[in-house]
Amino acid sequence: MYKNLLNKAREAREKSFCSYSGFAVGAALLCSDGEIFTGCNIENISYSLTNCAERTAIFKAVSEGKKDFTAIAVVGSVKSCDCFESQCFPCGACLQVMSEFCGSDFEVILAEHGEAKVYKFNELMPRIFDSKF
Ligand code: THU
Repeated sequence: MYKNLLNKAREAREKSFCSYSGFAVGAALLCSDGEIFTGCNIENISYSLTNCAERTAIFKAVSEGKKDFTAIAVVGSVKSCDCFESQCFPCGACLQVMSEFCGSDFEVILAEHGEAKVYKFNELMPRIFDSKF
């Protein structure tokens, strides 16, 4: 079901700028209207300015006026290797950004040995920061 989305994440990973870590990540974000926004990690010589693939995709989509999302596919591995043996889980910063826009039905799709693994967002982030108390 999410094969196409994972393929888009793989294609996006090819554009990764990861000169410092050598770890290339690609993401593909599915909007509820069917549109897909992709992103890759973009590193910087001032390391902390690096942007993760997931946030690149989300920021691209939001900056184009989209705010309803269904799922995100993420793949990552060392740049020289196109094999996705282990799942590349989104980091905490990306999960926090997802929490701003994505409901609990939102799904995160990862690849492991060529197979899609599907998680509900709140499995990966059961508690979120929320100042609206
Ligand atoms: N990275 C992502 O693109 N997404 C994540 O969720 C975690 C890490 C990137 C950042 C950096 O360029 C590289 O992976 C190694 O940490």
